[in-house]
Amino acid sequence: MLEVRGLSKEFHGVRAIDDVSFDVAPGSITSLIGPNGAGKTTLINMVTGVLAPTRGSITLSGKPLTGRKPHQIAGLGVRRTFQTVRLFSGMSVCENLLIGRMNELMTRSKRSLFLPMKLGDAPGRRRADEVLEILGLAHLANEIATDLPYGTQRRVEIARVLMGRPSFALLDEPAAGMNEQETEQLVHDVRRIRDEGVTVFLVEHDMSMVMSVSDKIVVLNFGQKISEGTPAQVRSDPAVIKSYLGE
Ligand SMILES: Nc1ncnc2c1ncn2[C@@H]1O[C@H](COP(=O)(O)OP(=O)(O)O)[C@@H](O)[C@H]1O
Ligand SMILES: [Mg+2]
Repeated sequence: MLEVRGLSKEFHGVRAIDDVSFDVAPGSITSLIGPNGAGKTTLINMVTGVLAPTRGSITLSGKPLTGRKPHQIAGLGVRRTFQTVRLFSGMSVCENLLIGRMNELMTRSKRSLFLPMKLGDAPGRRRADEVLEILGLAHLANEIATDLPYGTQRRVEIARVLMGRPSFALLDEPAAGMNEQETEQLVHDVRRIRDEGVTVFLVEHDMSMVMSVSDKIVVLNFGQKISEGTPAQVRSDPAVIKSYLGE
């Protein structure tokens, strides 16, 4: 269980996140939605230890995340994707996955200074094959990642997240810039990684995608939680209709 309690973040007096509390149940797909500037990325940055909250706490399985460094939080099985594509150009899909794994191992011990030589070690390659198989990307293993269609690049990033067998994955607007077909595929991928035992925290700008995939939705507006519930509850909540969905 991820527990967010009384979380606030101020930037020069501006409240990007304002006294927000909610839970993410283990094994669930929980989505955080809200318009641009609502504070979604700021919240991800606090969960992953990139930003320190001004007030409030975040715990995962009872362990406080607040006060921990990003690599310590990663060590607890938390992974994320970024709002914009961050793949290594000129490298294959498989190499992008292996690099991700290497970075993780490097944060774990100093011994791993020698790991660049191990980019293609057998366990890593096995896991890369496994992950690409899970997401139906195996046929693209040797393609240059950044030459692939945009939606596929975003799927490769999700594959990279899976490399380290995370328990908790935060996806920051994975559907942004995707066409309808790509978004459908993304819904399938999100379910697939949840079936792998990963708790998914999906941050999205687009309500329609999260409606079909989420167990629970938390709605942010100007940094405040204005609604929370099942897709059906949120969709019919007057507060959401008024300030977000439009009349
Ligand atoms: N590092 C920062 N410094 C100052 N203001 C920031 C910073 N990061 C985000 N903000 C502000 O916080 C608010 C929320 O931003 P963000 O979390 O990126 O929203 P979202 O991801 O929902 O679009 C915005 O008003 C943004 O300008
Ligand atoms: Mg954002």
